Amino acid sequence: MKVAVVRETYPGERRVALLPAALPALTQAGWEVLIEADAGAAAGVSDAAYQDQGAQIVADRGAAFAAADVVAQVRWLGANPTAGRDDLELVRAGQILVGSCDPLGNPAAVKELADRQATLFALELIPRITRAQSMDVLSSMATLAGYKAVLKAADHLPKLFPMLMTAAGTLAPAKVLVLGAGVAGLQAIASARRLGAVVQAYDVRPAVEEQITSLGAKFISLQLDNADAEGQGGYAKQLNEAQVAQQQAQLADIIAHCDVCISTAAIPGRPAPLLITEDAVERMRAGSVIVDLAAERGGNCALTQADQTVVASGVTILGPTNLPSEVPLHASQMLGKNLVQFLLLLTQDGQIDIDLKDEVLRDTLAAKDGQVQNQRLRDMLDLGPLVLPATTPPDHHLATDG
Ligand code: NAI
Repeated sequence: MKVAVVRETYPGERRVALLPAALPALTQAGWEVLIEADAGAAAGVSDAAYQDQGAQIVADRGAAFAAADVVAQVRWLGANPTAGRDDLELVRAGQILVGSCDPLGNPAAVKELADRQATLFALELIPRITRAQSMDVLSSMATLAGYKAVLKAADHLPKLFPMLMTAAGTLAPAKVLVLGAGVAGLQAIASARRLGAVVQAYDVRPAVEEQITSLGAKFISLQLDNADAEGQGGYAKQLNEAQVAQQQAQLADIIAHCDVCISTAAIPGRPAPLLITEDAVERMRAGSVIVDLAAERGGNCALTQADQTVVASGVTILGPTNLPSEVPLHASQMLGKNLVQFLLLLTQDGQIDIDLKDEVLRDTLAAKDGQVQNQRLRDMLDLGPLVLPATTPPDHHLATDG
């Protein structure tokens, strides 16, 4: 069994899918690890560091694809729409690809990889269940984004975060509001608290109140008509039009008094909910900062532009879309751990074994045998129900040797 980790080609991407320290767990399970030359360079990791842990360095990307049963990278086509296209011709029929590919945001790219006969595991589709937590790349990256968003806000704010009592007078602490208290939001709350800010947070799911208060922040409760915000799998439901209007109006009154607003509200596979209207921005004090982590999905703020800094009414609005890449070493460490756990799930007695009875593998399998496999993606692509070929063994065990 050979897994190749290739160099990222997305512009500005500094992460790598695996760090040297993660190699022993793979080699012990029978994997040989190939690393494309310079794959770790942007994260500060040398080829020699991989070699020290037993990896073979492959100079040529094509050769890495040709030699491997499994190819891993952080961003496959859907998450790397331009440069990722060059990999299409390198993929062999039946080759297993593992990584992120933004399947819900760009399902057509999954179809393209299916058309190449790739077996694609989209790690964004890992179910949020306890057993799969160690493989959950979205949670790993959201944690880093929440932390980094706070640092960005602190850097742009013309004030300090903590309260300081000095001989030159008392400096009041910054007031931070976090919108959406999922993984990124909770880490933003914790990071802002560590820096000494006074933090309040809002989420449409009342169940998160306890988590917010346990981090030392105040939970904001809004009055929405007929609110039943908890959807499936612990995710939020979309609100109706009247509830959205109520939410925006009530939030605007709170946002007006904040120095910093970090917004992280999201519902998987949907455009980001609009929580901060133009009017709300106008009512903020000049010098205030909004960091909108939902920028890639349209933003929680009406004025957000992805990867741009917008200044409106004196308020700075940042819409960074790849914050984890700005902490590439820890991001790669977390992704590598997630990848190793996933590859171990694919391994049975030193062989690759795609056991589709396993919920994690089944949910994550995006493409195989020329077909988009995940029904949600098929629905998005109007492909109808999946028809399994008659040759598929009844227990859905698909072992390959390698
Ligand atoms: P999550 O699903 O854990 O949390 C999202 C939260 O938003 C949930 O608690 C949900 O209840 C809440 N929410 C949904 N609709 C809401 C509404 N109308 N009002 C208030 N709250 C609402 O998601 P996670 O992993 O924390 O990610 C958050 C966002 O950050 C996502 O958009 C994700 O794509 C983005 N992200 C951005 C990165 C970047 O570099 N910009 C990196 C990683 C994640």
